[in-house]
Amino acid sequence: MSGMFITFEGPEGAGKTTVIRKVYEEMERQGYAVMATREPGGIDIAEQIREVILNEKNTKMDAKTEALLYAAARRQHLAEKVEPALQRGDTVLCDRFVDSSLAYQGYARGLGIEEVKSINDFAINGTMPQMTIYFSITPEEGLKRIDANQGREKNRLDKETLNFHQLVREGYELLIAQSPERFRVVDASQPMQAVYEEVLQLIQDTLKKNQI
Ligand code: TMP
Repeated sequence: MSGMFITFEGPEGAGKTTVIRKVYEEMERQGYAVMATREPGGIDIAEQIREVILNEKNTKMDAKTEALLYAAARRQHLAEKVEPALQRGDTVLCDRFVDSSLAYQGYARGLGIEEVKSINDFAINGTMPQMTIYFSITPEEGLKRIDANQGREKNRLDKETLNFHQLVREGYELLIAQSPERFRVVDASQPMQAVYEEVLQLIQDTLKKNQI
């Protein structure tokens, strides 16, 4: 039996992390076999790689190094945590996956979506999400929310310019246009409770449909 792999994408400050946590808690309460995790990280080795990628001291990091480190963290996280959970039949909710690399490194950093896809093909070896929920919000609004959220960790990528974040959005829009059957776009500028309810409904409807 194979569980459903669901990923969450979008810019910084879109509210993904909070919504995923609430969806996870509610699904668990309702008795679903569900797991929530994140990239880069989710397990010890990948959290260590996350530390290197996002450390504000690492200003010299080359864009290709960055892309390879994300792919390495992704590989370990998949092999050690996501694939075993899917094999058990769990629903896996993952905060970011390969689309983040395609939008951030491939498009916004200018490495090329196809080039970054090819190193990630090696890392993911065919494991792709059945559904990707995209949190749509303007970069201005997202960055405003980050500034307002004092408790949130600020990382190397948060320090990029508004222009970089606009490119990230354009990158995602291209990816959504390429795979409209996989993406579901949610308006993340709504109040958090409304976003949460919409996302929960989307997931439960999809799980029901897939059982038939
Ligand atoms: P987070 O803030 O959602 O935890 O993500 C950490 C940062 O890493 C965020 O700025 C997006 C970025 N990122 C990439 O650039 N490429 C990737 O492949 C992933 C997973 C994240």
